[in-house]
Amino acid sequence: MRKVTVVGAGNVGATVADVLAHDNIVNEIVLIDLKGEMAQGKALDIYQQAPIGEYSTRVIGTSDYRYTANSDIVVITAGLPRKPGMSRDDLIAINAKIVNSVTDQILQYSENPIIIVVSNPLDVMTYASLKRSGLAPNRVIGMAGILDTARYRAFLSLELNVSVRDIQAVLMGGHGDTMVPLPRYTTVSGIPVTELIAQDKLDAIIKRAQNGGGELVQLMGTSAWYAPGAAAAQMVSAIVRDEQRIFPCCAWLTGQYGINDLCIGVPVKLGRNGIEQVIELQLNEEEMKLLHNSADAVREVVNVYNALPAEA
Ligand code: LAC
Repeated sequence: MRKVTVVGAGNVGATVADVLAHDNIVNEIVLIDLKGEMAQGKALDIYQQAPIGEYSTRVIGTSDYRYTANSDIVVITAGLPRKPGMSRDDLIAINAKIVNSVTDQILQYSENPIIIVVSNPLDVMTYASLKRSGLAPNRVIGMAGILDTARYRAFLSLELNVSVRDIQAVLMGGHGDTMVPLPRYTTVSGIPVTELIAQDKLDAIIKRAQNGGGELVQLMGTSAWYAPGAAAAQMVSAIVRDEQRIFPCCAWLTGQYGINDLCIGVPVKLGRNGIEQVIELQLNEEEMKLLHNSADAVREVVNVYNALPAEA
């Protein structure tokens, strides 16, 4: 694969482009934004880093969709970020309009790209882009689980004072307060985390991970970008390199886990076709209940989306 477009030259989009440029795995990154000069400036700044970062990926900034032609992967970060006091769901009407219009414009110039959605409310914007594009469901994927799992793993590493590299975890459900970290699938170098941490400490970490985005919105007055950008770049990298890596991502479900017609976070395998496989875990009754509770919350927002005026 040769070309990646990143839509939105805000903090998240610029971070995706920056991290991906350092990976040095594609020929070209196009950073596109309505604010064309801002996109141009950030792209130029990132390319001026190339001699230091020693990568040869070209980075181009523009407001003109013609430059996105024949993109293999498109990362959509466009949309309003959260302000303090807002939930991700409060963004729906305005961001749905933006994500749908971006999807249309991308498909005008790229025939069969893989789309990675980062805009919030994440699960519903992934659904919107999938429906609007008509692309195969394995080609439209939402970024949330890698970010949420990274927060969970980071908090665990601080509490346990072990390297974050040794902490592996699975997290499912929507990108919101109902997300479902799974302690039974969390290990530290193969040791079940439940053997290393008291239940009350683990519960507090799960709560903090569920509110991980909100904590940063409170601190900064806007939503996060370093970890979200790096997470989206990691998805691109797994696809470009056809790695068959297993990550939690937002995927279209057709009966897995008893869930239909919804995009929501599940473990998937990523490779050159996007989602190569949805992994079905043997969840216990309690875990399944939490996942379905999260699916109900996502479905409520999908219903709000589907009731928006047609031009949205
Ligand atoms: C967050 C936003 C990006 O979780 O949803 O930080």
